[in-house]
Amino acid sequence: AKQMLQLKTGSEGSKHYREVLEKESLIMFEEMVKQIENTKERSISRNLVVHKKEGPIQVSATLLLLQNSEGHSAGMVCVYNNITEIQRLQRARAWREVARRIAHEIKNPLTPIQLSAERIHRKYAGEVSDDVALQQSTQTIINEVQHLKRMVSEFSNFAKIPESNPQMSNLNQIINEALQLYHENMPARISLTTELSETLPQLPLDGEQIRRVVINLVDNAISSIEKKGALSRIFRQGQIIVRTRHVPDLNIISMDVEDNGTGIAPEISDDLFEPYTTTKEHGTGLGLTIVSQTISDHNGFTRFRNLDTGGVCFTIELPVT
Ligand SMILES: Nc1ncnc2c1ncn2[C@@H]1O[C@H](COP(=O)(O)OP(=O)(O)O)[C@@H](O)[C@H]1O
Ligand SMILES: [Mg+2]
Repeated sequence: AKQMLQLKTGSEGSKHYREVLEKESLIMFEEMVKQIENTKERSISRNLVVHKKEGPIQVSATLLLLQNSEGHSAGMVCVYNNITEIQRLQRARAWREVARRIAHEIKNPLTPIQLSAERIHRKYAGEVSDDVALQQSTQTIINEVQHLKRMVSEFSNFAKIPESNPQMSNLNQIINEALQLYHENMPARISLTTELSETLPQLPLDGEQIRRVVINLVDNAISSIEKKGALSRIFRQGQIIVRTRHVPDLNIISMDVEDNGTGIAPEISDDLFEPYTTTKEHGTGLGLTIVSQTISDHNGFTRFRNLDTGGVCFTIELPVT
């Protein structure tokens, strides 16, 4: 409770609650006490949001009236639970359902639209060759439909993230496979290096899903570096480092994907893992949702921190079983 509610320091041991609780939680606590006295109920619950340095957390508070065997009041107990993670999972599930339906509704008409536009383009745009407007319009339709198709397929991927199918595997190997894609066609002036621990224990991982996690993180790092390059003339060398580590003390394996791009914009950092959080014109905002969902399906955690050097480091942590 001390950490959750950010209690005043020195609040251990027996003290009156007024000495311990901070403003918001104190007001709520007193309201709950009043309510329980008025309604004669045995217990009541409320949710509150506690704003911590690392971000807001959801806390549920349940106040229980204790009674002794004669039915006389014997004091009260208040139980606090951190329900941030539970709420996040529930939200993610609701979003998946929405995504699944939307994808279904949008997908069907796209192909006929595309085919029709291509037909018009072929048939008329060629003949009436000086009609630039017609050519441009049909091309725009074709391009935008392409874009919609890509979005919809990302949507439906998100909607049907399958239950993971974990097999004992080596994280380094999955990372190397995923990065293979990049080594051949990396934009100039971005270096992609790895610092992979040679002593990683095997883990139960869904290789395909973890590969997507790596790809999503590296894709984001590349676009962040490209954006920084476009913004700043003095920015010369983009650098992405993928690092793995075994931390025996915590019994976890961690993977960092670090870049020296723009860093996470502060206005989106609270909602970074929510669907549709994006700063890109054609972004879906699903990449990091998929990352954090996949990692939590693997009983792990995803976090990030902006670096002093300007970029950001995403870290995933997976338990060694
Ligand atoms: N490495 C990064 N550096 C800076 N910003 C990032 C990075 N990764 C993600 N972001 C920010 O988070 C947003 C959400 O990312 P994501 O969920 O992958 O969706 P998308 O890439 O479609 O925008 C991005 O639009 C970007 O603003
Ligand atoms: Mg992305």
